[in-house]
Amino acid sequence: MNVLGIDIGGSGIKGAPVDTESGKLLDDRWRIPTPAPSTPEAVAAVVRELVDHFSWTGPVGVTFPGVVVDGVTRTAANVDRAWIGLDARKLFGEATGLEVTVLNDADAAGVAEATFGAGRGREGLVAMFTFGTGIGSALIIDGVLVPNTEFGHLEIDGHEAESRASDHAREAHDLSWEKWAHRVQKYLEHIQMLMSPSLIIVGGGVSKKADKFLPLVDLKGTPVVPAALLNEAGIIGAALAAAGRG
Ligand code: BGC
Repeated sequence: MNVLGIDIGGSGIKGAPVDTESGKLLDDRWRIPTPAPSTPEAVAAVVRELVDHFSWTGPVGVTFPGVVVDGVTRTAANVDRAWIGLDARKLFGEATGLEVTVLNDADAAGVAEATFGAGRGREGLVAMFTFGTGIGSALIIDGVLVPNTEFGHLEIDGHEAESRASDHAREAHDLSWEKWAHRVQKYLEHIQMLMSPSLIIVGGGVSKKADKFLPLVDLKGTPVVPAALLNEAGIIGAALAAAGRG
């Protein structure tokens, strides 16, 4: 099945048609800067623009950087607060005239990595973390997603994890790779203590530079690997969810 996957991020909204059987993009990705403020109306207009760009008439999958339950966005840590309690599925559906599925951004990336990327064929508990503006999390057990885990907001030593260990924190506090890797290590040790995953996948834009920090992260007994699909994971996962494979 072919689905238009759209990934809503803090700085850009990206989309591409996806063949959900192979996980391959059927056309070049198209990116439009995220409007500021990122109000529901402004973001819906961009989603509409992407649909028009690809002259798309089929199903659409959209990621959102917050909790999504039955198409309703429940939190908005890094986007406009007007999203809280909003029926995003209805909003995007009306803006595009198409059938739209909405899910959390890290959940989408996790599903894509588990199906076609670094977690492919892995049994047991796979945990994926996206390090970006915040920290997104996805748990996949034997290929099935446990949605909306929100482990970026765990409190460790009195601090919210994403305020210390996100890629945004690295940039905002001008941390060296060593210092930041130490924070990532601490965060992942906490995760390992809580749930003993059989594999941890590290994603988000910073995973392109995995060689700079992953060699400094060592969780004895749990392999930690970089994401394989990089900035396509959200788009592919959104499409998989809309195809009923998420
Ligand atoms: C949000 C998550 C999201 C993550 C990455 C967090 O602040 O609460 O829902 O997955 O950022 O965007």
